[in-house]
Amino acid sequence: MRGDLDALVELWRHLDEVQRHLRIYPPATDQEAVVRSEMTGLIDDADSCTFVVESVAEVVAMATAEVGRKGGLNDTVVCRLSRVVVHPDHRARGVASMLIGHAERFARARGAAFLSAWVYSGNADGKSYWLQRGFAPRAEELVRPILGEGSEEDP
Ligand SMILES: CC(C)(COP(=O)(O)OP(=O)(O)OC[C@H]1O[C@@H](n2cnc3c(N)ncnc32)[C@H](O)[C@@H]1OP(=O)(O)O)[C@@H](O)C(=O)NCCC(=O)NCCS
Repeated sequence: MRGDLDALVELWRHLDEVQRHLRIYPPATDQEAVVRSEMTGLIDDADSCTFVVESVAEVVAMATAEVGRKGGLNDTVVCRLSRVVVHPDHRARGVASMLIGHAERFARARGAAFLSAWVYSGNADGKSYWLQRGFAPRAEELVRPILGEGSEEDP
């Protein structure tokens, strides 16, 4: 798995291509290092797993699953899916379905009652994918800048 890190970061770039222009918060200057360190951190966590699909010895898709208590006012165990991305040359062949199937089995085995997926509101394709797979919106984060342009104090 540690040996796959370069390939996973390469795949993350495809996800970043989709999401880059949708981000409101300015990206960290060392994004790739952050991704690498987060993924390394998950390797030794028994309640997390990054599933990958390989084709001709190349990693072409990934999905990270993290199981934990929801927190706040409930103690439901939820499996959070993130960094779900299939290389553009391998889409529409059931690859993501296979990854999500594995993640779901992983989640059930750890007592999770829900799968949850985080998606940018502007990622129409990503959103329609999750809706098509039976996911429903649960909450929405609303954001307003308070410094400079867009702030209510901006003349
Ligand atoms: C979204 C994504 C992961 C789908 O991967 P994929 O391997 O092409 O998906 P699959 O082939 O497994 O598709 C499974 C099913 O979902 C459907 N589907 C695929 N993409 C879809 C989309 N954007 N909207 C609606 N349905 C979609 C397929 O038709 C298929 O339906 P079926 O089972 O009835 O035949 C892939 O397009 C991707 O990597 N997108 C860029 C990154 C991204 O936006 N990730 C998700 C948000 S975090």
